[in-house]
Amino acid sequence: MSYEHLRLDYTGESLTKEKADPCPIKQFKIWFAEVEACGVPLANGMTLATVNQHGAPSARVVLMKDIDDIGITFVSNYGSRKGIELDSNPQAALVFWWPTMHRQVRFEGVVSRSDARLSDRYFEERSRESNLSAMASDQSRPLASRDALERQVKEMGATWKGKELARPKDWGAYCLKPNLVEFWQGQPDRSHDRLEYRWKADSWAVQRLWP
Ligand SMILES: Cc1cc2nc3c(=O)[nH]c(=O)nc-3n(C[C@H](O)[C@H](O)[C@H](O)COP(=O)(O)O)c2cc1C
Repeated sequence: MSYEHLRLDYTGESLTKEKADPCPIKQFKIWFAEVEACGVPLANGMTLATVNQHGAPSARVVLMKDIDDIGITFVSNYGSRKGIELDSNPQAALVFWWPTMHRQVRFEGVVSRSDARLSDRYFEERSRESNLSAMASDQSRPLASRDALERQVKEMGATWKGKELARPKDWGAYCLKPNLVEFWQGQPDRSHDRLEYRWKADSWAVQRLWP
């Protein structure tokens, strides 16, 4: 089995240095709007790669909450596996893959915890049920059974019945400040476009890479 039958013919519009915005955040927003318009489900899903204290990598999907000149924001549990890895090494990478448009965007940079007020804001935006689950969760730590999970969430609901929920201290926002961003646009016959932006002192330098 080679999975050759899954091969796609990439046909997206090509991406050139001349056409691309000199700021990768602005270019990302242009692409993201097009991807959203194309109806890609969960277009804000991105793979976050971290490394542990021994340099071993691990990756998982998280959802982008925001992107601006400071960086890309996501929320998670600070005591989770990713949280522990980020505490010991804040360097991380993020990858978006939007198959319907044959586009990939990679980010590399340094992650820091966002301001507590921003985490509060994200917490308040979520449904009560999601927040009760977040409050009950010891994310990434061993869980005896599905029953134990449901019991814990139910107990949390009973404890907080009729009360405004308080954001747990170990749940909050992170921001990855990029120093490298790469846009990949699939093109016919493997002649894909790759534009890499690197942060150099005080501005972004852009170069095309071999596909
Ligand atoms: C589509 C999708 C979206 C997810 N979004 C998040 C998220 O925003 N934050 C989060 O902590 N985990 C999210 N998860 C779960 C993570 O992939 C992962 O299971 C969890 O964060 C624990 O990872 P860790 O043990 O490496 O810390 C998402 C999973 C999927 C498949």
